[in-house]
Amino acid sequence: MAHKVIFDTDPGVDDAMALLFLHRHPEVDLLGITTVFGNAAIEITTRNALFLKREWNIPAPVAKGANETFDPARPHAGWPTFVHGDDGLGNIGVPDDIGIDPDPRPAHQFIVDTVRANPGEVTIVAVGRMTNLANALKAAPDIAGLVKQVVIMGGAFYCPGNITPAAEANIHGDPEAADFIFTAGWPIVVAGLDVTTKTHMKRHFLDDMAVRGGKDVELLQRVSDFYIKFYAHAVEDGMLVHDSCACVYVVAPELFTLRSGPIRVVCGGIADGQTIQKPDDMQFGASLWDGMAPKQVMVDVQSDKVLDLLSRTIAG
Ligand code: RIB
Ligand code: CA
Repeated sequence: MAHKVIFDTDPGVDDAMALLFLHRHPEVDLLGITTVFGNAAIEITTRNALFLKREWNIPAPVAKGANETFDPARPHAGWPTFVHGDDGLGNIGVPDDIGIDPDPRPAHQFIVDTVRANPGEVTIVAVGRMTNLANALKAAPDIAGLVKQVVIMGGAFYCPGNITPAAEANIHGDPEAADFIFTAGWPIVVAGLDVTTKTHMKRHFLDDMAVRGGKDVELLQRVSDFYIKFYAHAVEDGMLVHDSCACVYVVAPELFTLRSGPIRVVCGGIADGQTIQKPDDMQFGASLWDGMAPKQVMVDVQSDKVLDLLSRTIAG
């Protein structure tokens, strides 16, 4: 039976590849795309999601989400234009008017309605800030018991962050939202930098995918050029496919090693946005992790197999 998926995203170059993977994978039934601010403002990430939907003929609706942090008093974190470009898709010149309307509901309401309509069946894959999830859970706490699972790209557990030494960008952009969803009683699996920084896609690998995949993958290749140049400091002529790791987990969980334990997020101070797990197999004194339901953190990955699955699914 296909995995019913809601993709919560801030496209975003690596978000684009992840979306094409979900769209093309035969065991995924993509029910909806919900947008969130992060790699750019919500008007831009939503426009980009509609653009990718149009270019790739994706039937799933796009619902526009949050442009404000869960705690509105939190100062604005800024846009990573140096990573994803001014247009959020590598400065390829995305048109302003896509000619498709978003779903009339806000993203968090789309999530609530879709989860309630498919009890026990929906996997939410969230690869931007956790704001839409937090808003959905706050509005409808019952969805915690109705989702199949929540798979997240975010956090840095046993390694440094990428936006500060302590924090990963998706969590750093809305730490209060992240702590709210991590401490709720729903099943969460997290693809953090521990595994995504081990998953390098080289330019020649993407070029080969584009040769096989034709114009749809050529779009991905054009979108990725700016991002590959940004990643020169970390990957030799290649990039990190963060968001795709979370999507691959949905269909191939055996490619990842998990560690179980509750997760808290630091909200404020020098380590703002840091994600900290209390591993179930270790003993500590009393702490603010006590009584919280365990979550699963990916600590290792068979990255060659992840890349191979991405390539075969996206480009044939
Ligand atoms: O830290 C990587 C994450 O931040 C990815 O989801 C990327 O798209 C950005 O949102
Ligand atoms: Ca993203």
